[in-house]
Amino acid sequence: MKIHSLIVAGVAVAALFPTLLVVAMALSSRDAGPVMIAGLVGVMFSAGLSVYIARRVARPLRNFDTAAMSIARGKFGVQVEVAGDTELADLAKTFNYMSAQIEAYDHETQRLYEDIEAGYLETMVALANSIDSKDSYTRGHSQRVAEMAVEIGRELKLTERELKQLRYGGILHDIGKIGIVEAILLKKSSLTDEEMQVMRQHPSIGDGIIQPVSFLKEIRAAVRCHHEWWNGTGYPDGLKGEKIPFIARVVSVADTWDACTTTRPYSRALPEAQALEVMQKLRGTHLDPGILDAFLKVIEKKSQSGAESVKLAV
Ligand SMILES: [Fe+2]
Repeated sequence: MKIHSLIVAGVAVAALFPTLLVVAMALSSRDAGPVMIAGLVGVMFSAGLSVYIARRVARPLRNFDTAAMSIARGKFGVQVEVAGDTELADLAKTFNYMSAQIEAYDHETQRLYEDIEAGYLETMVALANSIDSKDSYTRGHSQRVAEMAVEIGRELKLTERELKQLRYGGILHDIGKIGIVEAILLKKSSLTDEEMQVMRQHPSIGDGIIQPVSFLKEIRAAVRCHHEWWNGTGYPDGLKGEKIPFIARVVSVADTWDACTTTRPYSRALPEAQALEVMQKLRGTHLDPGILDAFLKVIEKKSQSGAESVKLAV
């Protein structure tokens, strides 16, 4: 039974005894009229009083219920207002204090989590930079890939959380190169087939490096699959089309663009128009056509705004 009904019933029962007394007096009296009227007024008064008291008590209880449900749903810090100097007002003060404390603990936990995440990321960025810094041709590559991947993600209207994953995926996509011997990684001439086989291990090596880091589990796909091709002829797993994780397809477009627009040992940076032609030729073979379209819109917007869209490695 709801407390509202309980109070109404309680006050009604309490009013029953004097009412019955009035009725009994009326029946024993010669002139029952005034007594009956007095009894009727008494009944109406007690009914009104019971409803008033029930509302006074039930309304703050409903506020408590709503506030408790908000906290249960993660909206910490919600407060209830109970006027007066009653026990319910005291309870509201305790409730509000508890809610504020939970909110403070939540903020602290969130801050600690972000600190831990930032610490992990800084370590990973340092590792990625150590790869980039070995080779002057690829210096800044990871950061540029991350920035372009995020811009493509924005064009695709991804959530902030997904953009964050793209940033991490871009920064770390080549982390596995740390496990490739420098004789191959920094070789100034073409790689032999055997050397190419070794070089092609970097996505799976990178996947193995970040695998123990739980908060990076959603970007493992960017590391492992950024050399998978849309037509299924990429590596290491030969995934095809939408079987290639989405994050890897975005990083792949950003990675390819950076490769086209930076000078490498055997290829000079292409002018933007020529690099765009190369990207178009890779549509549907290497690159996801839908993501390529989003990338082209990013480039178009950059050229319209006059922003520098090509940053050459030095
Ligand atoms: Fe790579």
